[in-house]
Amino acid sequence: MASFGSAKEAVVVLALALIALSLSVSVEIGAAAAAARTPEVLLRSSSSSSSSVLESKMDEMYVSVDEVDMLKVYTLKRGKMEVKITDWGATVMSVKVPDARGQVADVVLGFDSPATYMDPNSTAYLGAIVGRVANRIGNASFKLNGRVYHLPANDGNNTLHGGLVGFDKVLWQSQQLDLGQGPSVQFYYNSFDGEQGFPGSLEVSVTYTLGENGEFKIEMEAKAGKKATPVNLASHTYWNLRGHDSGTILDHLLQIFASHYTPVNEKILPTGAIDPVQGTALDFLEQRPVGTRIDEVSVPTGGYDHNYVLGGVDHGDCDGLKRAIRVVDPMSGRVMEIFTSAPGMQFYTSNFLDCYGKGGAHYQPRNAYCFETQGFPNAVNEPKFPTVIVQPGEIYRHVMVHRFSTS
Ligand SMILES: *[C@@H]1O[C@H](CO)[C@@H](O)[C@H](O)[C@H]1NC(C)=O
Ligand SMILES: *[C@@H]1O[C@H](CO)[C@@H](O)[C@H](O)[C@H]1NC(C)=O
Ligand SMILES: *[C@@H]1O[C@H](CO)[C@@H](O)[C@H](O)[C@H]1NC(C)=O
Repeated sequence: MASFGSAKEAVVVLALALIALSLSVSVEIGAAAAAARTPEVLLRSSSSSSSSVLESKMDEMYVSVDEVDMLKVYTLKRGKMEVKITDWGATVMSVKVPDARGQVADVVLGFDSPATYMDPNSTAYLGAIVGRVANRIGNASFKLNGRVYHLPANDGNNTLHGGLVGFDKVLWQSQQLDLGQGPSVQFYYNSFDGEQGFPGSLEVSVTYTLGENGEFKIEMEAKAGKKATPVNLASHTYWNLRGHDSGTILDHLLQIFASHYTPVNEKILPTGAIDPVQGTALDFLEQRPVGTRIDEVSVPTGGYDHNYVLGGVDHGDCDGLKRAIRVVDPMSGRVMEIFTSAPGMQFYTSNFLDCYGKGGAHYQPRNAYCFETQGFPNAVNEPKFPTVIVQPGEIYRHVMVHRFSTS
């Protein structure tokens, strides 16, 4: 195990105070130096005199923003880790992490240019925040407070990931944020009453932070306006710990900390049951390769596309968050763990993926895994599932921590 982000907090706090004073100056200088690029250095503490080559740049931290094709691309940098996020769909474009020897790879599938994410026909949701309601709503309708709401059907007769124009297909407002936890950027979207058929306005924010100890944190919040509404936000990032362009993930080792799942029918809608995973092809209670039993679940989903009910197993939670998964690429030794506040998680093995991404890489089925922590699919029509209804004025909150290390 190694960690990549340990900061000298005292230095950072001092640096913060100084940078706050000089921020406007550094922006001006940056703008003059390069018109196309607008570096807005948030934090940059001095490099330590560490003896290790791997650690020598550990304390380097900053946020910068570029304008590309009229879109913003934020870079969060901390030590050897770097994350790029665009304001179209609040989309994670890349996450670079080192392996055990310090070799850095981009472990997120995506596109080189932010504008490519704007394709209105794209149904891959690469890296995006999906909402207002992630996953499926059966028959594209639901009843709430005595009224039936009709939504656009974009998945057979169902609504998938918020409808035809979900939160992945809109421009978000954005700003750098200083929470003292590391390089951070916050995105905002005000969803209007009736947008994609959903009731009531909704103020949404998503905050991305590169924290200590190799942690990449996503905090999703939403405040309902005057009407109750279903809310279920999820990050739809496609991961391949060997590198975004390295093909199959079937030999990666996965453990899922969930004793149960929600079985689906032929339309990939939950039947309402909550069944144990033990002994089935969905059983990842012990770490094993992703691919050993994947062909048993190839109908109708083409691979794993299942909602796990997180918990029911004792595997050490973290800061009040449930441990959801641990995945290891045996080749590079990269490890990712995910902790979450959400009750469920869609495990998806990119079963329908077929597109050309960064550097011309051909992304295909079973080239990546998504771990979409979430409320349960079709919860709005399944009284037995935990509710996804947010009452007027109430705040929905969903935290997701990705912790990177090596084995
Ligand atoms: C999206 O699909 C429609 C219908 O197939 C097509 O007419 C349109 O050109 C496509 N748009 C893009 C940007 O590919
Ligand atoms: C969808 O509508 C059909 C026909 O009205 C009904 O039989 C079915 O149970 C509905 N499915 C869901 C998931 O609500
Ligand atoms: C949609 O629902 C209608 C009416 O229940 C049914 O005839 C049709 O086969 C359904 N379509 C799909 C794609 O499931």
